[in-house]
Amino acid sequence: MRVPGDKSISHRAVILAGIAGGETTVTGFLPSDDCLCTLAAMRAVGAEIDPLDGQTEGRPELLRIRGVAGRLQAPEGTIDCGNSGTAMRLLSGLLAAQPFASTLVGDASLSGRPMGRIITPLSAMGARMRGQGDRQTAPLEIEGGKLRPIEYSMPVASAQVKSAILLAGLFAEGETWVVQPAVTRDHSERMLRHFGVPVLQEGQRIGVRGPAVLKGRDFVVPGDISSAAFWLVAAAAAPGSDLTIEGVGLNETRAGVLAVLRRMGVSMAVEVCGGEDGEPWGNIRVRGGALKGTVIEGAEIANVIDEIPVLAVAAALAEGETVIRDAAELRVKESDRIHEVVRRLQAMGAEVEEKEDGMRIQGGRPLHGAEVSSEGDHRIAMAFAIAGLFASGHTKVTDVGCVATSYPGFDRELARFLEGKYPVIAIDGPAASGKSSVARIIAERLGWSVVNSGAFYRGFTWAVLQAGVDPADHGAVEALASEIDFSGGIEGTETVVRVEGRTLRDELTSPAVNAAVSEIARVASVRQRMVGQFRALAEAGPLVMEGRDIGSVVFPDTRYKLYIQASPEVREQRRSAQGQNDSIRERDRSDSERDSSPLRVAEGARVIDSSQLSLSGTAEAAFEALREQGLVIS
Ligand code: S3P
Repeated sequence: MRVPGDKSISHRAVILAGIAGGETTVTGFLPSDDCLCTLAAMRAVGAEIDPLDGQTEGRPELLRIRGVAGRLQAPEGTIDCGNSGTAMRLLSGLLAAQPFASTLVGDASLSGRPMGRIITPLSAMGARMRGQGDRQTAPLEIEGGKLRPIEYSMPVASAQVKSAILLAGLFAEGETWVVQPAVTRDHSERMLRHFGVPVLQEGQRIGVRGPAVLKGRDFVVPGDISSAAFWLVAAAAAPGSDLTIEGVGLNETRAGVLAVLRRMGVSMAVEVCGGEDGEPWGNIRVRGGALKGTVIEGAEIANVIDEIPVLAVAAALAEGETVIRDAAELRVKESDRIHEVVRRLQAMGAEVEEKEDGMRIQGGRPLHGAEVSSEGDHRIAMAFAIAGLFASGHTKVTDVGCVATSYPGFDRELARFLEGKYPVIAIDGPAASGKSSVARIIAERLGWSVVNSGAFYRGFTWAVLQAGVDPADHGAVEALASEIDFSGGIEGTETVVRVEGRTLRDELTSPAVNAAVSEIARVASVRQRMVGQFRALAEAGPLVMEGRDIGSVVFPDTRYKLYIQASPEVREQRRSAQGQNDSIRERDRSDSERDSSPLRVAEGARVIDSSQLSLSGTAEAAFEALREQGLVIS
C-alpha cells in the first residue's frame, strides 16, 4: 500500500513555502480538510498557491507556491482552521508577528481545545492576543505587531507550541529559544533548514535567530506514518498477513509506533529509501502474528501520541496487559481520546480501565461488533474501523465525515485492504437503459471514478472511420488497433478518450460513430485490448464501470454487479429526447447476438428495470441492490 502525505509536514510545507521568497513545488501534499484550511489561510495572507495536478476545486497533491518573502498581507475576514489544532497554533505564531489584526476560528471541537498554551508564550514575546473565557479558547483575536525574542520552557511537550514560537521568532530581532520537556516531532526544524534558515539546537533547547527570510525550495512530503499505523496494526494482528507500506515518513521523532509494535511482538522490516529534503522515508513491512501487551509511557508518549487510539485497539487484541500512562495530553485532542477509546473498547467487549493519564487494557478478550460513533474525531473513527475487522458480528462506525481531516480515501483503502484489490461496481445493460446516468450518481456518492466503457469503443470507432477503414473489414480494423495511438482513462471523475493526442467529446456520439460502433465492438481483438485497459484502470482506485460485458467478462469476480434494463419503447423515447436517432432495436440485436462478449445478465448481477422509474428512482434501486450485495454506503 501507500498512504497519503504526512499531515504535520503538509501544514508546515504550505506555511513555510508561503512565507518564503521565491517558488516551491510541494509534491505529495496531503489534501485533507485540515491541511486545506492551512492552504486557504496562506492564500488569505497573500501566498499564491496553484494546484499543478488539475485539482482546482478538489484535493490537490501537487502545489506550486509563490511565497510572500516575509511580507504577509492582512487577511480579509476571519481565518477558519476547521478541526485543526496544528493550523490554529502554527498560524497564531505567524500572525502574532505581523503588522495587522486577524481572527482565527475553528469548529466546535477546536473551539474547546486549550489555546492558553500558545497565548502565554506569544504574549511574553509581546503579542497582543486573546481567546474566549477562562480557558482561552477559540476564536482567537490577534492584534499583531513587533515581537521580542524569548526563551520559553514549555510545560507540556507540544510540537505545535514549539513551532508557533519558532515561527514567531523568525520575525523577532534576536534569538528565540524553546525548551521542550520531551522530544517532540521536529518537522518544523528540519523544514526551516531546508528553506535555508539555520536552527540552533542544544539538547532539547531549540532556537532560531530572527529576522530570517526563507528561500523557496521544492519539497517532497512523505507518506503519513500516523495513517500507516492503522494498516500496520490491522496486518500485525492478523496472523498470516504480510503487508508492505511504501514511501512512509520515518522521522525518528514520529516513528515511535514501530518500536511499540516491535515490543508487542510484531515481526517488522524497515527500509530507509531516502530523505534528501530532510525527512527520511522508506518502506515498512509487517507480518501478522500473535501480539503481546506492553507499557507505553514517559518520553515515548510524545512520539506516539496520534497513534495511541489504534495502539489501544492492538492492545485489546494482544495477550496480556498493556499500560498507557503519562498521556494526559490525549484528553485535549480532537476529542478526549482516553475516555472515548476506553468507552468504545468496552462497548466491544474489551477489558479496559480508564486512568487519569492513560488506560490499562487486559488484552485477549474476544471483541464483538457494536455501533460506535466517531465523536467527530478522525482517529477514533479509523481506529474503530480497524477494531471492527477483528470483532465478531457487525461493527458500525458512525459520523465518519471527520476522517477526511487527515485521511481522505480511507474507506476506499479499507475496501482494498479487505479484498486485496479496489472494489469495482459493474453495471451492464442495453443502450439507453439509464446505466450511465446511474453509474455517475453512484460514483459521485461514493467518491469513486466512473468509466463509460462505451466511450472507449466509440473513440476507437471514430479512429477507424477517420482512417477510412471499413468497419466490416475486421482484418483491417485489427491491424489498425495495433498501429493507432489510442488511450482512454479517467481525469478527475470523467472518462477521457484520446486518439493521436486529440481528446474526443462530441465526436463520440456522432451519427457515423453511432452507426458503426456495434460492428467495431464485435471484433474480438479490439475487445481484448479494451479489457486490458479497463482492468488497468481498476488497479488505480475504486471504479464504477458501465457497459455491456463489465460484469460478465471484464470483472467477473466483482461482488457488485447490476444489470439495468428498460423496454425498447422507453429507450427509444429516451434516445430521441436526447436528439439522437440511435436505432435501439438494431443495437440490441447486434449486442446480444455477437460472438464476442454478447450482452447478457452476468452471473450474480441484480436486474433493475428502469422502464417505470425516474432516474433518481433507478439510482435508489441500484443503491439498495448494492447494499444487498454487501457494499457499505454511508
Ligand atoms: C502536531 C503535533 C501534535 C499532534 C498533532 C500534530 C503537529 O500535537 O498530536 O496531530 O503537527 O505539530 P501537540 O503539539 O499538541 O502535541
